[in-house]
Amino acid sequence: MEQALRVTLAGQGWSFDAQAPATVLQSAERAGVRLPSSCRNGTCRTCICLSTSGAVRYLIEWPGLSLDEKREGYILPCVAIAVTDLLIEAPAASRLPVPPDSGA
Ligand code: FES
Repeated sequence: MEQALRVTLAGQGWSFDAQAPATVLQSAERAGVRLPSSCRNGTCRTCICLSTSGAVRYLIEWPGLSLDEKREGYILPCVAIAVTDLLIEAPAASRLPVPPDSGA
């Protein structure tokens, strides 16, 4: 199993583990962080965000990013898998509601 990496949201200071084969978007949701998303297949660009530090690889060959955007550090979290720890800017991120306590 691949090692879990740490993704940190620069603005909010929240962070979560990202572990392949989960995408950055899936990893965020598992950790209770909602990032903007729509198509979830790398075409609509709803999820685009700036990664100021770190590297990702993509599930698909041509994620909907221009070469310039890639160079500037933009990523599409719905199809991106972290390959290093990441620092990302996602001002529209929110916390998912905590599920009601099943026990106590
Ligand atoms: S949700 Fe559409 S490109 Fe990521």
